[in-house]
Amino acid sequence: MTSETTTSLLLSPTRLGRHALANRLVMAPMTRNRAEDDGTATPLMAEYYAQRAGAGLIIAEASTPSQVGRTYPNITALHTDAHTAGWRQVTQAVRAAGGGPMFLQIQHGGRVGHPDTSGLTPIAPSPIPLPESIHTPTGRQDAVTPREMTPEDIRTTIRDFAATARRAVDAGFAGVEVHSANGYLLHQFLTTGTNHRTDGYGGSVGNRIRFTSEVIDAVIDAIGAERTGLRISPGHSVNGVTDTDADAVYPALLEANDGKGLAYLHVAFASPDEPLFSRLREIWSGTLIANPVLPTDRIPADGGREAAERLLCAGADLIALGRPFLANPDLVERLRTGAPVNAVRAKYAMYTGGPVGYTDYPTHC
Ligand SMILES: Cc1cc2nc3c(=O)[nH]c(=O)nc-3n(C[C@H](O)[C@H](O)[C@H](O)COP(=O)(O)O)c2cc1C
Repeated sequence: MTSETTTSLLLSPTRLGRHALANRLVMAPMTRNRAEDDGTATPLMAEYYAQRAGAGLIIAEASTPSQVGRTYPNITALHTDAHTAGWRQVTQAVRAAGGGPMFLQIQHGGRVGHPDTSGLTPIAPSPIPLPESIHTPTGRQDAVTPREMTPEDIRTTIRDFAATARRAVDAGFAGVEVHSANGYLLHQFLTTGTNHRTDGYGGSVGNRIRFTSEVIDAVIDAIGAERTGLRISPGHSVNGVTDTDADAVYPALLEANDGKGLAYLHVAFASPDEPLFSRLREIWSGTLIANPVLPTDRIPADGGREAAERLLCAGADLIALGRPFLANPDLVERLRTGAPVNAVRAKYAMYTGGPVGYTDYPTHC
């Protein structure tokens, strides 16, 4: 495929189930810590997302399904009526700006949390602390040892994901993304480094994928498979989680969940040169969103276009970009015209609050 052909493919309309998408670009979920202290989304957040309504699909940032699942200060949540109302103003603003469908990512932090943030001891598959410090309302602190989840904790957490999924639909989202990536709770169950359980949720690959699969089933029961997406980050080490047997775990996870009719699979940090990516593409019969690996310290001058095109050639259906959307509200237009992209002002990415480095990125004139 020529570059011109793939560029036009990237920017050409497509479908996600019953939704028409204006292009194949997806705004990746990005925590920006601009919610109220209790996790309620704000009018400023509505403005931020509406500015980025040009994305074919927006996956809104990680939102916690319960107080104990809270990760960081001012992260968004969705388990009260106030949270639902807060997110509704965001989906309405994006719709009013002509945007496409929005999904909401549901994230339980597991051991990535702190009593000073949530008021509760974090819970996790096993009592193994995060091996690094964590942001709290009073600055970075050492992590605490999480409490090992009981069978009742597991059942409650699964119910919490389902309840948040129902609230998301009520708030105007087209669906939710189950976050099983980046070292948070579901990912902690997948890997041997963080999961030392000896019950049906630990040990064998089949047991370690059980929790994610049961969360997916509960969310499907709550809102339907066509509204349920899944995010994974195979082989990407973050939050002290390293996939020890990614080549076994992720194919098994996909084989267990392909055929349920999910809206999509979202692979973070995807590389078209990785044999595991090709294998996952072969297994997954539905829509695959791939989030390319870009340089960690900057957005490439082409806004990520070349990396996006390579993944489309490697079989991805949609391409998720994070920082390019963060810094460029009109990213789609810039990719269409080849206009230069804004650099990310990283110091305002998280925790600073307010509009600076959030809603004040200029559009290209
Ligand atoms: C500020 C920031 C916040 C992020 N928050 C989330 C999040 O809430 N959920 C998630 O799955 N990934 C999160 N990520 C990861 C992005 O979704 C994406 O995978 C990553 O930035 C790589 O894509 P990029 O190179 O296009 O930015 C975040 C990344 C950034 C930069």
